[in-house]
Amino acid sequence: MKRIAVLTSGGDAPGMNAAIRAVVRTGIDKGWEVYGVRNGYSGLVGGKFVALGARDVGGIMQRGGTVLGSARSPEFQTDEGRLEAVRALHQHGLEALVIIGGNGTQAGSLALAAMGFPVVGVASTIDNDLYGSDITIGVDTALNIALEAIDRLKVTASSHQRAFLVEVMGRNCGYLALMAALAGGAEAVIIPERECHPEAIASQLHDAYRRGKPHALIVVAEGAQYNAEGLMKYFQANRARLGFDLRVTTLGHVQRGGTPTAFDRLLGTRLGAAATDCLARGQFGVLVGIHQDEICVTPLADVVGKRKPLDPRLLELERILAM
Ligand code: F6P
Repeated sequence: MKRIAVLTSGGDAPGMNAAIRAVVRTGIDKGWEVYGVRNGYSGLVGGKFVALGARDVGGIMQRGGTVLGSARSPEFQTDEGRLEAVRALHQHGLEALVIIGGNGTQAGSLALAAMGFPVVGVASTIDNDLYGSDITIGVDTALNIALEAIDRLKVTASSHQRAFLVEVMGRNCGYLALMAALAGGAEAVIIPERECHPEAIASQLHDAYRRGKPHALIVVAEGAQYNAEGLMKYFQANRARLGFDLRVTTLGHVQRGGTPTAFDRLLGTRLGAAATDCLARGQFGVLVGIHQDEICVTPLADVVGKRKPLDPRLLELERILAM
């Protein structure tokens, strides 16, 4: 192998830059030339490659986001767009591609692999919904940002004897919500994997009020049927008796923009390095992730389209601890 490229796609995740840096520097260490692709699959289709040397990736590890840029690319969803992408790779003499991203991104990796192009995926999404890795790049930072917000909200909630609905990201996955609820000491959590009727939430809140809690916190995953907005509407329309006065905070993209934690920098570094090791071994069409703190390699065909289940024991623990 002489010339490889690296791209980041889908939602950016803190720690992606550490992965880019590791791919570039371990690639150079193996004697290869390394290129970056601008703006994910859009840049790939458009042949937007930039040569990256060791110095080009200096000072990026502590920055959130991705220095290469990312995009959600409709062109790459089409057969024509994918053919164009492979053509561009060949034209630039690129022999393999490292693709850093989550579920949608790795579906793209699988499509390229099926077209015979050598790819290795790196598990990265704040949602932690990617099969093939216990934890993905960006989750730890996003969770810590959510917790900082929750801690602050609890202070003001306590001063005013209020309840707060805090909506966290996670598309169709309740991982961030459940972990934020556990670590933030929430009274309840609402996630897509286990939907909950607003009446049940209302009675939990009212109970907490009667038990004399000074405040109450409910963490809601954005992808739940009743997200923060839906719950608020329901409570207002049905004049729900909550005891507490209720306020809503939606954290949104704030969770994606943070300075990567040590954990995410190390995870990005380890996975980026593992990706070039795969390429060196000629192991293509796979995702590198982490399992029980060891690097693991899973065929992309086994990753794409699967759902990573939540641990039901943690849901039960959250319920118990909310007493
Ligand atoms: O997949 C990461 C994620 O942040 C999800 O949690 C969220 O639903 C989605 O991306 C938001 O996408 P966009 O940045 O395109 O608005």
